[in-house]
Amino acid sequence: MHKPPISVRVNLSHPNNYEVIIGQNILETCGEKIAQQIYSQRCVIISDSNVAPLYADQVKQSLIKSGISSNTVTVPAGESSKFLSQVEGICREMITNGHDRHSFVIALGGGVIGDLAGLVAAIFYRGIPLIQIPTTIVSQVDSSIGGKTGVNAPEGKNLIGAFHQPKLVIADTMTLKTLPEREFNEGFAEAIKHAAIRDGDMLEEIVSVNASSDLDSLIAKNVAIKARVVEEDEKELLGTRAHLNYGHTIGHAIEAAGGYGKFLHGEAISLGLVCANSISSKLFGFPPDQSDRIKNALIKFNLPVNLDKEITTDEILTIMKADKKFENGQIRFVALHELGKPELTDKVSETMISEAIAEIR
Ligand code: NAD
Ligand code: GLY
Repeated sequence: MHKPPISVRVNLSHPNNYEVIIGQNILETCGEKIAQQIYSQRCVIISDSNVAPLYADQVKQSLIKSGISSNTVTVPAGESSKFLSQVEGICREMITNGHDRHSFVIALGGGVIGDLAGLVAAIFYRGIPLIQIPTTIVSQVDSSIGGKTGVNAPEGKNLIGAFHQPKLVIADTMTLKTLPEREFNEGFAEAIKHAAIRDGDMLEEIVSVNASSDLDSLIAKNVAIKARVVEEDEKELLGTRAHLNYGHTIGHAIEAAGGYGKFLHGEAISLGLVCANSISSKLFGFPPDQSDRIKNALIKFNLPVNLDKEITTDEILTIMKADKKFENGQIRFVALHELGKPELTDKVSETMISEAIAEIR
């Protein structure tokens, strides 16, 4: 017997309200839950070459029980699948398979699949419903919630995309058992970020996680943090949602400079968090003991806190300037006054960023 699932609602204006269900072995009954939200008998499951062999059939069988037919489109696993022509390829495969505006999309996988399949759902026949079934820590605590979809450009991360909220998110924590260790660990960078901007006490809970921990309540806590931020500023117009970018301005640039292959997303964000901590200390007097708590949590998950010389500071700065967070020549940077007190500021100079990168060499 498993515990009952936890439900967290994302309360956006109609029709963008939805439920995030977090629990164990809930893939078995996902068809029933989906049929309660979507009145369509046909969908495409978009997944990757690691996740589809593990979970696509289970999802398909559950859909069949609820009278929904599906076909699966599988892309190669990894960040390198997040590019625009991949979106076109998937859309064309869907047309060939007879999908139209009455179909819907299930994103089955980590953040790469959520972002990629989300963009397909946003533009196929000008937008069809999306269900997120996240299978990594990153996607369960962060990327499946909030409606940001998109792909990378060679010039930078997530530069091409759309807002498209899911109709339902089903986070089966049993799927995390098949994550390789490195992919399991990287996911905690986003949870540590949530703790940094909203709930410093959660750092203790995060560092006490081990391979056999029951993660449901920690994941639900993170989902609730993300949901509240998105409710406050759905389209990132007011500045609050931008707080979720803590560590991402430099982290995304490091990820792109590494060719989207040297570092996993969470690993690049770990480096970005350490740099953001040091900028926060200089700018707002972010206390060193709080900065150390974040850094020690990253180290606990074997996340990198030092950058080798293979990627130069100039490369990182050049990529940062193409980023969405760089507006009218000013960097929009999130810095902390203390744990739980972020501020979006334009007071961070290129020199401060270069110095922060120098400190992690
Ligand atoms: P990912 O999707 O590449 O998954 C990591 C690896 O784990 C992949 O090789 C994948 O095939 C494998 N995998 C996934 N689930 C598995 C499972 N249950 N068992 C075994 N293997 C499994 O990466 P990720 O870390 O989940 O997501 C990173 C992406 O998320 C980045 O592209 C990032 O930009 C994006 N992101 C988006 C948002 C957003 O708000 N949209 C937020 C944070 C991150
Ligand atoms: N991951 C950043 C956001 O959802 O806004």
